[in-house]
Amino acid sequence: MSLVETTGLCIPLKEAEKIRKYLIKNNLLRNDLKIYKDNRFVYLPVKNIPEIDNINFQVCKKKFKQYKLKPKLYKDYINVPKELRHELPTSYDIIGGIILIKLPEKLRKYKQKIGESLLKSNKNIKTICLIEPVTGEYRTRNIEIIAGEKHTNTIHKEYGLKFNVDVSKTYFSSRLSGERKRIADLVKPCETIVDMFTGVAPFSIMIAKYAHPKIVYSIDKNKDAVRFAQENIKINNVLDKVEVIHSDAKEIYKKFDLEGIKADRVIMNLPFMAYKFFPYVLKIIAANSVIHYYDILKEENIKKRISYLEKKANENKIEFTKLKVIKIKTYAPREFYICVDITAKKKIMPM
Ligand SMILES: C[S@@+](CC[C@H](N)C(=O)[O-])C[C@H]1O[C@@H](n2cnc3c(N)ncnc32)[C@H](O)[C@@H]1O
Repeated sequence: MSLVETTGLCIPLKEAEKIRKYLIKNNLLRNDLKIYKDNRFVYLPVKNIPEIDNINFQVCKKKFKQYKLKPKLYKDYINVPKELRHELPTSYDIIGGIILIKLPEKLRKYKQKIGESLLKSNKNIKTICLIEPVTGEYRTRNIEIIAGEKHTNTIHKEYGLKFNVDVSKTYFSSRLSGERKRIADLVKPCETIVDMFTGVAPFSIMIAKYAHPKIVYSIDKNKDAVRFAQENIKINNVLDKVEVIHSDAKEIYKKFDLEGIKADRVIMNLPFMAYKFFPYVLKIIAANSVIHYYDILKEENIKKRISYLEKKANENKIEFTKLKVIKIKTYAPREFYICVDITAKKKIMPM
């Protein structure tokens, strides 16, 4: 590998992933050069110096290793009929060493070829899975391995954390990493947090590592998710901050009542279904609390859903003092994966 001296950004480790994503999104990161990292900083080779507020970085001159030039896209390796080439997906999900890809019906007979080309073009990937959309109560999906090693277990890394995941037994989305960090950054010291639908516990662990909560209660009904959550808490050394509970989220208020626990912040990441659990959240929140409510909704239905939540809160003498809707990603045309950040307050009733 040859060395190239050029302009780079020198960024403290904790901030680096966020900046790397920003640079990629804005086409500012040089992808022909290798990112360099030492104990304290990450050095990112850039095309131009970005203008980002509130971020601690320094511009430097540095020698970066140059990647060998090679065809980058799996499409460069594949041989499918010309008239079908435009149907080849432009994106797919990467979870640890596994690629999850959806294929239109017309391309399914070429699935093996597509799998092999994805393996060739992604050096660190061991397994390619053809997937269906997530379904059912546990939000899992049907998976078919179309190339590579025949297993669905992997370790996914983000923001210096490790998540052991079985993509066929539990829900996990690498696309939510920025959202998880956003929530962790909002947590105030000593909060009691409830991660109501924790899955393999990525929100809980991000909070336990990057904020200073009193405790995070991580709940899931899927026993496989609970098993992975427990393991992930161990491997990320946050056993003292996270308690995993195998339970239906609708039952959790009983334990909280018995033990006198109140939640300062609740994370409700169960799109399509979370609204059904909202009345149970209202039973466990402190006098002042924050609820991160996730859903997948058409643009025109967002207001209606918020009105429903507000109505339920009012019935329980709780008011929303602040509301913020964040569109995390597009799910379908005019349909969004959203988070509603709700600040809630118990009303003081006159005696
Ligand atoms: C969309 S996944 C979110 C997982 C995790 N928060 C994440 O971001 O990766 C929703 C999770 O809720 C769990 N779940 C579904 N119904 C539940 C219930 N009634 N009580 C507790 N957990 C439930 C599912 O098993 C699944 O792991």
